[in-house]
Amino acid sequence: MADAAHDIADAALAADGLRRIAWAERDMPVVRGIRERFARERPLAGIRVGVCLHVSGETAALVRTLAAAGADVALCASNPLSTQDDVAAALAVEDGIAVFARRGEDDDAYYRHLMRVADHRPQLVIDDGADLIGVLHAARRELVDGVIAGTEETTTGVIRLRAMEADGVLGFPVIAVNEAQTKHLFDNRYGTGQSVVDGIVRATNVLLAGRTFVVGGYGWCGRGLAERARGMGASVIVLEVDPLRALQAAMDGFRVMPAAEAAPLGDVFCTATGDTGVLRGEHFDAMRDGAIIANAGHFNVEIDLPALRERAVETHAPRPHVEELVMVDGRRLHLLAEGRLVNLAAADGHPASVMDMSFANQALSAEYAVRSVDALDKRVYVVPPAIDEEVARLKLEAMGIGIDRLTPDQERYLKSWSEGT
Ligand code: ADE
Repeated sequence: MADAAHDIADAALAADGLRRIAWAERDMPVVRGIRERFARERPLAGIRVGVCLHVSGETAALVRTLAAAGADVALCASNPLSTQDDVAAALAVEDGIAVFARRGEDDDAYYRHLMRVADHRPQLVIDDGADLIGVLHAARRELVDGVIAGTEETTTGVIRLRAMEADGVLGFPVIAVNEAQTKHLFDNRYGTGQSVVDGIVRATNVLLAGRTFVVGGYGWCGRGLAERARGMGASVIVLEVDPLRALQAAMDGFRVMPAAEAAPLGDVFCTATGDTGVLRGEHFDAMRDGAIIANAGHFNVEIDLPALRERAVETHAPRPHVEELVMVDGRRLHLLAEGRLVNLAAADGHPASVMDMSFANQALSAEYAVRSVDALDKRVYVVPPAIDEEVARLKLEAMGIGIDRLTPDQERYLKSWSEGT
């Protein structure tokens, strides 16, 4: 259903979307608490906010929180395959949000939707992967001066934004939400770990126990995935280019080797590096019959898709989200979710409980950016430690976990340098 105010797949899905959002919000107590305060204090009153995130039940909880703060929100998807159409419908029809997102939209529609959010003339931008910020700087330069600040959700986006800052082209301050400890230590590790295994298993129903699972990258996402795949009984191989991370993977008990050595050993491959061309032609040539290939990184560039497809003499679709590519020698390779984020395309993305922390950081960083407008330069900033600590404190409280406080004696001891043996 496209009209001036939104472009969604089917308004009739709104009731399903409301149920999905309610289910997510049950497990997002920190965001709910922030929303209650925002509704009283209205820190974003009258501010136009452009949001480019995966359109999920969890994102809806954040969008409603921004709206409760007084923001005028326009929302588009940060990936063509991740939109939950029922959530898009609920936000558009029930909450009156300007939503431009349809699951499975092609690249043209994806960029058209980014432009629709740009048309909203956002004063605050909440991005995931930096596509909206990229569009503002490339195609809609005239709008950049009107942007107070941005926030960025993911590693890939932060890398792009730091490159923009280094090139001197970043037109407004951006808070790197991904850099908050209460974001990447939880969302990237536990969220990606669980949801990527969930996506691969839902798409294929393969038993991971006894299989060789190859993880590309040992950042926080790769670590989470390697831990969870091992927990399911897989024998895990890690690919890394960074010697420190490779060493950590080895001492965490994983086999570490170059991709060319892992290619003939793996049953399941999943990339999580944030870089391009991790699995390439020479690797596909060496993979076993039946190998499964997936990606957990933000963009669909980690698997060299043209090289994979040009090797196929036949393709089949044995199950939703599975493309079987038959190689010239008869081997069948199985590509999941078109090489896009398998956790969001083939499953529900990260569970709400962990998005609670990520999106609490988003909401509090948005409030901070608006309040600190005069103090921020056109740079990439880390989330203020006070926000990080507040999110951790609120999450512990919501989980019913109490912790000790330092005694006055302990505080004094930590500040002194005179007491030794
Ligand atoms: N990124 C990963 N999982 C997500 C989710 N459930 N909602 C929004 N963004 C996500």
